[in-house]
Amino acid sequence: MNDPYSPEDFKLDLTRRPRRLRRHAATLAMTQETWLRKEDLIAPLFVVDGDVPKEPVESMPGVLRRSISELVQECRELDALGIRAIALFPSIDPALKDEVGSEAGKPDNLALRAVKAIKESVPELIVVADVALDPFTSHGHDGLLNQAGDYVLNDETVERLCQMAVLQAEAGVDIVAPSDMMDGRVGAIRRALDESGYIDTSIMAYSAKFASAYYGPFREAVGSASAAGTKLLDKKTYQLNPANRREALADALLDEEEGADYLMVKPAGPYLDIIRETRDATALPVAAYQVSGEYAQIHAAAQLGWLDYEKSRDESLMSIKRAGADLILTYFAREVAERV
Ligand code: PBG
Repeated sequence: MNDPYSPEDFKLDLTRRPRRLRRHAATLAMTQETWLRKEDLIAPLFVVDGDVPKEPVESMPGVLRRSISELVQECRELDALGIRAIALFPSIDPALKDEVGSEAGKPDNLALRAVKAIKESVPELIVVADVALDPFTSHGHDGLLNQAGDYVLNDETVERLCQMAVLQAEAGVDIVAPSDMMDGRVGAIRRALDESGYIDTSIMAYSAKFASAYYGPFREAVGSASAAGTKLLDKKTYQLNPANRREALADALLDEEEGADYLMVKPAGPYLDIIRETRDATALPVAAYQVSGEYAQIHAAAQLGWLDYEKSRDESLMSIKRAGADLILTYFAREVAERV
């Protein structure tokens, strides 16, 4: 094993040689600390109304907007592959959007019909649904705007979110996921669910959700960008400042106090420190959302031949797990489940 051509004088007198662990494929496998399992992955899916063919999302290669029947088919396949949960996002007809997101409160809206269809066909698949008004508002914000149109009202929005969450639970959603970052929404939603008898409906709180540039492709997918007329919709008065670590943690812990069952950090890759701190600060399961822009970045670089697609994809997910995420929402879920 010693290199016969290396003169003895160059030998270092080392007690510790960490490379011993990495010498053989077998020892590398034996000493691996982190694993990615299918059970860790939550697949985000987009649904559109009508009996239409699958529509690609331009900035998210491989991601499709599906009609309800195509969506149900995809859910069956994911379930067969061993994926345990999906997160559902509606892309509604722009004509149904208004200032106050009225459509969100209609019991037969696209999102709720989709949930019922999934639960009818694949009841064991866990359905996570976003609680926020942005797919339904003409301005693309997650809540109700004040008169001047420059600030999202907190308490008035929370009232709408509670109504949304109860409708979702009624439709069969297993986990409601408030993604709006209003103050007090987790506690209010918990109470609303309990009062309506939905004591077993869980809450996955988007707890540390940053005002990130990485949501761009998603906003194309649900049409909240075109509704707002800008890709860079400014949500800084409610989503977290990317510069702030302590504030993120304080906000996440509030969600735990208010009754969240899972805490989520979002985006994932650029916020691995926040994932680790959240993991260390709570006993609850921690989820991380590898968002649309993180997915688009890997695809774009791979298309240019600048990154190896599969290796960078797998490394990005492994890093999120290593940082401490128990669950990962990722657009790569299906293709990874096909391999692990
Ligand atoms: C909206 C919501 C967003 C995402 C999930 N829920 C976007 C936003 O806050 O504007 C982003 C997901 C992604 O980028 O993949 N409540």
